[in-house]
Amino acid sequence: MRVDAVVGELAERELPAYVYDVSGMGKYAARVVGVLGGAVEVFYAAKANPDSAVVRAVGERVAGVEVASGGELRHVRDALPEARIAFGGPGKTDAELRLALALGVERLHVESPHELRRLAAITEAEERTADVLLRVNLAGERQGAALAMSGPFGMDPDLITTCLPILADAPRLRLRGVHAHLASGLDAHTITAQQKEILDWARPWLAAARVPRPEINLGGGMSVNYADPEDRFDWTSYGAAVSALALPDETLRIEPGRAMTVHHGWYVTDVLDVKRAHGRAYAVLRGGTHHFRTPVTKNHDQPFHVVPGPRPHEPSVTAEPVTLVGQLCTPKDVFARHVPVDHIAVGDRVVFAMAGAYAWNISHHSFLMHPEPTFHYL
Ligand SMILES: Cc1ncc(COP(=O)(O)O)c(C=O)c1O
Repeated sequence: MRVDAVVGELAERELPAYVYDVSGMGKYAARVVGVLGGAVEVFYAAKANPDSAVVRAVGERVAGVEVASGGELRHVRDALPEARIAFGGPGKTDAELRLALALGVERLHVESPHELRRLAAITEAEERTADVLLRVNLAGERQGAALAMSGPFGMDPDLITTCLPILADAPRLRLRGVHAHLASGLDAHTITAQQKEILDWARPWLAAARVPRPEINLGGGMSVNYADPEDRFDWTSYGAAVSALALPDETLRIEPGRAMTVHHGWYVTDVLDVKRAHGRAYAVLRGGTHHFRTPVTKNHDQPFHVVPGPRPHEPSVTAEPVTLVGQLCTPKDVFARHVPVDHIAVGDRVVFAMAGAYAWNISHHSFLMHPEPTFHYL
């Protein structure tokens, strides 16, 4: 494996380390765009991994980038000055809305009537126009989803309709279409069914609202399988299904994050201690979930493999299940629980796969003030 060559070269002082195969991410993004064949535009959801090199590698191969805060917006504008940017997310401040106008955001995803009124006032005060998608949140069970966006995301169909009179009084706002991101972690079949549901609601609504050549952003949420790093979202089936749903004179757009970058990132560290507690074997690793919170948030065993250090090395365990923990003073600091290993010893390196999305950037870095990881790009 390409990453193992890098793992062997990392000095101890460089651990823990994130290794990102940005060239692999770029190729993967290009393949996704190719498979979708123009039926749907792809914007990369930068929240999955906003590392500048990642944003560049992926963002240059897709149609645009979706951001969810003023911070992400500035950052992505710096990393990719020419990118088409969509700005979504709940609770945008007036300062963020002004920033969106100043930095040339192409589409603003508006989350509530109050946000729309504030945006209208700001466009008037600044004498600028803004192109808007209204975010809808359709009711319904999100079967099979890892995360359903129940709660204050977007507007119910009743509430969204109250935006029309606001828009009628706001000459500097242009309604371009609707946006929906209803759930995450959906396989190709389930996400297609969900997107059909969105289209079935959106098309008549947009026709009644007289939006010419409407845009429908169908969100992200393509599944990844943490139990099998080789498994990939079935873009081919999804591409065929979404092509069959597409109609002329409208633009369909998606904004996947996790599935675009997760497979091309690794968190690499080494074993500081091996011991037993209450009959169970533990390996204590340098670093922890303050660097790599993914297994805690997903409540899963992060896939990993062991790269042996110099032998013999003790303490160690052989042919038994081991729990991999970090250096934090909390029982929640666990990467993987009771997973069988052939052998693991102090000094071995542990390579966690699927660390390319929602990993470093969602972690609580300052807890216990351990050193930060180093970052390496292939
Ligand atoms: C509005 C919106 N779009 C896109 C995404 C990306 O979702 P995923 O990373 O599951 O593809 C998210 C994730 O929360 C989101 O909230």
